[in-house]
Order: sequence, then structure tokens, then C-alpha cells
Amino acid sequence: MNRKYRKTIIAGNWKMNMLASEIKGFMEQLKENMPASRNCDVVLCTPAVMIPAMAKAGKDCKVYAGGQDVSKYEKGAYTGEISAAQLADVGAKYCVVGHSERRQYHGESDMLVNEKTKALIAKGIKPIICVGESLEQRENELTMEYVAYQVKAALSGIDAADLKQCIIAYEPIWAIGTGKTATSEQAQEVCCGIREVIRKKYGARPARSISILYGGSMNAKNAAELLSMPDIDGGLIGGASLKPVDFSTIIAASNQE
Ligand code: PGA
Repeated sequence: MNRKYRKTIIAGNWKMNMLASEIKGFMEQLKENMPASRNCDVVLCTPAVMIPAMAKAGKDCKVYAGGQDVSKYEKGAYTGEISAAQLADVGAKYCVVGHSERRQYHGESDMLVNEKTKALIAKGIKPIICVGESLEQRENELTMEYVAYQVKAALSGIDAADLKQCIIAYEPIWAIGTGKTATSEQAQEVCCGIREVIRKKYGARPARSISILYGGSMNAKNAAELLSMPDIDGGLIGGASLKPVDFSTIIAASNQE
């Protein structure tokens, strides 16, 4: 982390877990365990139907509600889709976009991720853009090339002013939900590489101020070490964000200097 230049963000991704009726109990436990002062933004990205409940429950303890996906369309006859305006209207401040599970199970292309990113920016929601390589790509030493391509594609046509709203999450696919975390050195190397991609495209200042998160089996035990790396500005946390005590431990770990 480097708090002098950028915000630390601890974001939970609940995926398709939990119920709206469980939010109150979860937040009570989270509040009980949360450090008294904190130095980061805390976000919980819930299934869309739970965003209003999360936005309400998070108000008094400054936990922001986020979505997990958005339509690229503004409005209209797109049955089942949810627009950025609708997410914003029920209180979403952040939204995950291009998660590898959506790329894999729903065939989301880099171009679609770019369109969704733009849709979110247009409505004032901060996109958390996910990128990351497969195990095969890592083994073939294609990691940085592939991740750089994903970052450039996601940010295509987005100017420096709008980049200020964006957050990038580096999530190696082989580390998601597998219990296999990238080492802090591996994660740092790619996050630093992503910052370099931003520097080449936008210049030194935007590169210095964009928050880059790590995601992939981050937990209460390994968070402090990952967050101690200079280019890792927070975490996108799946499994461990479903456990209020573990999630608050990760929030506390982001308090380190
Ligand atoms: P995980 O998920 O922490 O359970 O590995 C991270 C993510 O998919 O965002």
C-alpha cells in the first residue's frame, strides 16, 4: 500500500451467497469486530437484490454497498438485466466488472467488460475491473502480457478524468476459491506491472494514484503480508468476506503503516 498517493480498499465479493435477511446479523458481527479506526474504504459487493439492504445496513458503519455485474445497456427491453442507473438508485457505490467467473461462465469478452466499465462510470459507480491469468498462461510465462492486454482493453476509450473512478483487481484465476494464494512477491510483481501499463497509457500521476487490489484466496492469515507490498492497495475477497470475523481481521490488516 502507499497511502500517501492512493486509497486502500477492502472489498468483499459475496458472489451468489447469503440472503438479504442475513445481512443485519452479519453487519452486527462485523461492527463488533471492526477496528475502531480504519484507513480504508470497506465495500461489500452483494447479489443485486441485496444491495438496498446492504446500503441501509452499511450506512452507520461506513460500509459501502456494491454490485457484482451490470448491463452494458442504459435501459430498455433486456429482460433480466440490471442497469448502472438502477444499481446507483438503490445505493451501489462500487461494482465488480469482468470477474473471471463471468468471463468463464457467461462468455464475457474484453470488449463487453470495457462497455460495462463505461456504463458504470457514466452513472458515478466505481468499477472494480478484474483481470488475471489462468494457470496455463502463468506456466507459459504469458502472465504479464495477458494481464496488460486485459487492462488496456478494459480501459479502451476511457480518459484520465474517468480513470480516477476506476479500480483494478488483479485476480489470478488459479488462486480464486482454491485456497492457493499467489505469493506476495507474485502478486506484487503483477500489480506493479499493471501500474506500469497505466503509466504508459496515462502518465505518472494517474499511475501513482490508481488503487490496484489483489484477489484470490486472500484471508485473515495472509492479508497482512499481501497488503504490505507497495503496489497492492487492498483486496477483493470472496470466501473470507462471508465470515464477519475474518473479514474484519482483513480490514484491520489494512491499517498497517
Ligand atoms: P476468493 O475469491 O477470495 O474466494 O478466492 C476472490 C474473488 O473471486 O473475487
